[in-house]
Amino acid sequence: MDVHVADHPLIAHKLTYLRDERTDSPTFRRLAEELVTLLAYEATRDVRVEPFEINTPVAPTTGIKLSNPKPIIVPILRAGLGMLDGMVKLLPSAEVGFLGMIRNEETLEVSTYANRLPDDLTGRQVFILDPMLATGGTLVMAIDYLTAKGARDITAVCLLAAPEGIQHLEEELADSDIPVKVVLGTIDEKLNDKGYIVPGLGDAGDRLYGVV
Ligand code: URA
Repeated sequence: MDVHVADHPLIAHKLTYLRDERTDSPTFRRLAEELVTLLAYEATRDVRVEPFEINTPVAPTTGIKLSNPKPIIVPILRAGLGMLDGMVKLLPSAEVGFLGMIRNEETLEVSTYANRLPDDLTGRQVFILDPMLATGGTLVMAIDYLTAKGARDITAVCLLAAPEGIQHLEEELADSDIPVKVVLGTIDEKLNDKGYIVPGLGDAGDRLYGVV
């Protein structure tokens, strides 16, 4: 597994305001979107492209364009939705699929409650969006789900991660031949006994959309 932690003062600055409990939902949503666009720049470093012939007003030249099939972005509902606009800004021609996953707050077990994805993901580059890599349970399950549909090129974009979650993911993927890349805003200190990232930012879904 290839873990990339963004190291940029603008990302650290925006994360600080995102974490602050005084930040209201509209500001939180805007910051999450801006952060994802910055992380997407790194996450798409290996996006598939092909040569493309054009004429400038001065001369013919060869550029590049995104290859087909186009990448697919998969936000994990509900909090991953808050990252979608930021990602689509950088990859406007990507398709978007949805995966609804929920964590039982007592057992921390994850279950899938919704999916809107193509049946066959063979040959597709897949970008999973989930703001919090906490226990890693959601991401492990999402990766299983996507590989069962044929995905072999998966990048997860997360705003915050706990070391325990990264370790769990690494252990689960140790015997896999599928190269998974994880792009993170930062790695926090730890998980608490409720499975929250410390210092973290609280419940990302609630901060984005309110308590439902
Ligand atoms: N999910 C969240 O929204 N926050 C955490 O800290 C952990 C999981």
